[in-house]
Amino acid sequence: MNNASQHHWDHVYETKAEDEVSWYQANPQHANELMKLFNLPSGAAIIDVGGGDSHFVDAMLAAGYSNITVLDISAAAINRAKARLGEKADQVTWIVSDVTGFNPTKQYDLWHDRAAFHFLTTEEQITQYVSIAGQAVKQAGYLLLGTFSENGPTKCSGLEIKQYSEPAMTARFSADFERIKCIYEDHVTPANKVQHFIFCGFRRK
Ligand SMILES: C[S@@+](CC[C@H](N)C(=O)[O-])C[C@H]1O[C@@H](n2cnc3c(N)ncnc32)[C@H](O)[C@@H]1O
Repeated sequence: MNNASQHHWDHVYETKAEDEVSWYQANPQHANELMKLFNLPSGAAIIDVGGGDSHFVDAMLAAGYSNITVLDISAAAINRAKARLGEKADQVTWIVSDVTGFNPTKQYDLWHDRAAFHFLTTEEQITQYVSIAGQAVKQAGYLLLGTFSENGPTKCSGLEIKQYSEPAMTARFSADFERIKCIYEDHVTPANKVQHFIFCGFRRK
């Protein structure tokens, strides 16, 4: 576990309300559009990587999915998501882990990540993530990845991030995944700033 990173994120989730963080999104729109393409059955194994206290898990539960895992480096984030969901939290598997040290014990039909991958800025971290995602996703399963685009911010939560273009993201995952479709989204932060995201859907070869 990267202690500096864990401390940073725990501090964020302990000191800011959910709608005080720039990434807050009441309704995960990108998920709706790309999820329709995947057409997953309700028992599909879904993992939200760097899920924080995102409402993605709420949307998946509301859509009838019953096999959901949320992974985050911050225990504070996970605790907040659990508290929000109340009894429904028992239907979810929660994992506190740095994704680059994640050792999956099962395979998933969908690996979802909105705005966590782009915090990995060294070649070593990025290579580890790509390799772990490749191991964790079932053959013909899906990867749905959202990062700041080349027209997006260069920092998030005070940390440097790595921006992605469609070719750059496609190339990064090309060993194990084929790109299905990428979409762009202007995310409006609670402070009314626009952040340009790219979301790409991939299928495991
Ligand atoms: C910008 S927030 C996005 C949260 C959530 N995906 C959303 O859309 O609301 C980034 C999240 O990634 C988590 N994170 C950052 N680095 C991580 C790492 N190396 N491993 C796991 N989670 C990480 C943070 O704790 C935080 O919850």
